Amino acid sequence: MTFPATRMRRLRATPALRALARETALLPADLVAPLFVTHGEAARRPIASMPGHAQLSVDEAVREAEALAALGVGGVILFGIPKTKDAVGSEGYAEDGIVPRALRAIKRSVPELLLWADVCLCEYTDHGHCGVVVNGRVDNDRTLPLLARASVAYAQAGADLIAPSDMMDGRVGAIRRALDESGNADTPIVAYSAKYASAFYGPFREAAESAPQFGDRRAYQMDPANANEALREVALDVEEGADMVMVKPALPYLDVIRRVKDRFQVPVAAYNVSGEYAMIRAAAERGWLDGERAALEALTAIRRAGADVILTYFAKDVAPLLSRSER
Ligand code: PBG
Repeated sequence: MTFPATRMRRLRATPALRALARETALLPADLVAPLFVTHGEAARRPIASMPGHAQLSVDEAVREAEALAALGVGGVILFGIPKTKDAVGSEGYAEDGIVPRALRAIKRSVPELLLWADVCLCEYTDHGHCGVVVNGRVDNDRTLPLLARASVAYAQAGADLIAPSDMMDGRVGAIRRALDESGNADTPIVAYSAKYASAFYGPFREAAESAPQFGDRRAYQMDPANANEALREVALDVEEGADMVMVKPALPYLDVIRRVKDRFQVPVAAYNVSGEYAMIRAAAERGWLDGERAALEALTAIRRAGADVILTYFAKDVAPLLSRSER
């Protein structure tokens, strides 16, 4: 049947009809808010390239987590800024490092909020790379035990999900074994499986003070031109024991999210990264677009592409605009 019998506009006529016909739901519980935790007390150091976000001392991170939980946001993912950096990223796997401290404090005050722990060495190494550097190269196999140690330290401190973002080969398997052997067999792994070498991480590197001091990350993160390779990465991570997989960044890689979702039966997360946030915020500040609507549209598009969960710096701003899920 074609026009005039078919009129696509019928179901668009009113808000109620549009709600009835809407294919994609976006709920606060689908969102995970990144937090940057730092040493000290009562500290909130604004991040210039990410308006609305700050490096938070543990007490402030607890307050932020309480506010996010009250809005129904599904979880937080923690990134740590260590007291000191060294060649092997020691604070990244120290049991009393900044992330374990924050995990314990948040778990104590908001036990119902899911705590994700990002696992990577780049915030903790003086060279800013995601692993141990040997002869000017990030050494894959020497990095694995350190990532495994960090994962165990975070699980012990109360992390509900372990999320390795380093892009070393074999890290999911190494982490799974270490978690199992340390009595953390029930802690799930969310693998940043398809993580691209992206220009959109710029603001994050200011926030986390984690920019590489030489070279770039192209020898371990993925080439933006590749999508079949993303499917291989996901397949390997699932085989190694990943419970969920992630595609990162999100908006420039919606095709990858969709292909992963169609091919695999694991939940898919997408990371709406710092540069994606900064672009919308900057344009909104200039009055070039409506920031709130742009953020909602972008997040809805990421869900529509197939993401079950979205890590996003917009979580706190958009949660009040979304209807609450039952929990
Ligand atoms: C750590 C890590 C990065 C991000 C998340 N985990 C940065 C990087 O790989 O350089 C980026 C997140 C963002 O840009 O919001 N490896």
